[in-house]
Amino acid sequence: IALGVMASGKGSNFVAVANAIREGKLNAEIKVVIYNKAQAKVKEKAEALGIPTVFCNHRDYSHREAFDEVLVETLKAYQVHWIVMAGWMRVVTPVLINAFPDRLINIHPSLLPSFKGIDGVKQALAAEVKIAGCTVHLVRLEVDSGPILMQAAVPILADDTEATLHQRIQTQEYAILPRAIALAAQSCLIS
Ligand code: GRF
Repeated sequence: IALGVMASGKGSNFVAVANAIREGKLNAEIKVVIYNKAQAKVKEKAEALGIPTVFCNHRDYSHREAFDEVLVETLKAYQVHWIVMAGWMRVVTPVLINAFPDRLINIHPSLLPSFKGIDGVKQALAAEVKIAGCTVHLVRLEVDSGPILMQAAVPILADDTEATLHQRIQTQEYAILPRAIALAAQSCLIS
């Protein structure tokens, strides 16, 4: 599986995918990591693993479509077939979605369809639900919607803060993201 990763933040999900590949649990290669925030920690993490990184700054473009066109060009230049949005904090447009139909994967820190959008963890705490979790899904135009590939649940504990709950959710993210990528690629002819 020729993978491209798009990330805006610390990149721990990227590392989880890279680890799964190294451990032989996922038959894939990460061809490029695209990040859109200069300070994103994912950059150093990718460099440490010898994976090419490309900085695409959305602020350089006047509209989302123009930015997505650059993403598509970059991903195609690296000949990726599957893209993982691993903490990609930008709304994507049909430009990106249609360039990689059904091959764009997102991870979200809630049990979708509950708690879409930013602050999925905070929303779960505020709603006082007892079970939270994470979802890996194919990307559709509506934010945090699309066919679900895999989910994992975690309990919400009485003394949880957003940080402790997010940490518990992330542990599950690291487990299901590589498995969901494998599942998606297996059920498709293009790997
Ligand atoms: C994850 O919780 C993911 O679900 C959400 O953003 C976070 C990214 O974390 N979309 P990291 O940058 O992979 O550590």
